[in-house]
Amino acid sequence: MMIRPMTKEDYDEIFAMWQITTKRALSKADERSQIERYLDRNPGMSQVAVVDGKIVGTVLAGHDGRRGFIHHMAVLPEYRRRRIGHRLAEKAIEMITNDGIDKTHIFCYRNNETGQNFWKNFGFKKREDVFVFSYDNQ
Ligand SMILES: CC(C)(COP(=O)(O)OP(=O)(O)OC[C@H]1O[C@@H](n2cnc3c(N)ncnc32)[C@H](O)[C@@H]1OP(=O)(O)O)[C@@H](O)C(=O)NCCC(=O)NCCS
Repeated sequence: MMIRPMTKEDYDEIFAMWQITTKRALSKADERSQIERYLDRNPGMSQVAVVDGKIVGTVLAGHDGRRGFIHHMAVLPEYRRRRIGHRLAEKAIEMITNDGIDKTHIFCYRNNETGQNFWKNFGFKKREDVFVFSYDNQ
């Protein structure tokens, strides 16, 4: 298994993977042009895990100049519980840290127990003092 930076050429494969792993979290923000823009804005930060030439895991990583954010942390079901998720998250946080950012946030659905367990196990602290408010710009 190797971890390498995600590229624009990976889009079709990762988008197909997300249909299995991440379907409910997908939105217009995951269309090709948006993901390409995200990768341009956060060069080298998002990662894929590759086994025998096949992408089996993803993490989108970036920052806004102040705080780091991780999205679409995902591993294909048949490759889970082998620390691939940890390796992806470690690399993503390393890249964000290297840019001088000292805190990273993730969003996790309340009913996603696997996701919550994963992030807690990794060392993320669950915030009880914050709500997420969202606004549709158009
Ligand atoms: C969350 C996810 C990325 C974890 O990937 P992974 O490669 O299996 O994770 P790792 O092997 O690195 O870490 C495993 C640890 O995470 C937690 N964990 C992972 N899957 C779990 C499960 N089904 N039930 C309980 N805890 C789980 C455990 O603490 C586990 O440690 P253990 O194996 O020693 O018990 C993967 O389950 C996934 O893609 N889920 C669907 C997408 C998703 O929910 N992403 C998170 C969005 S917030």
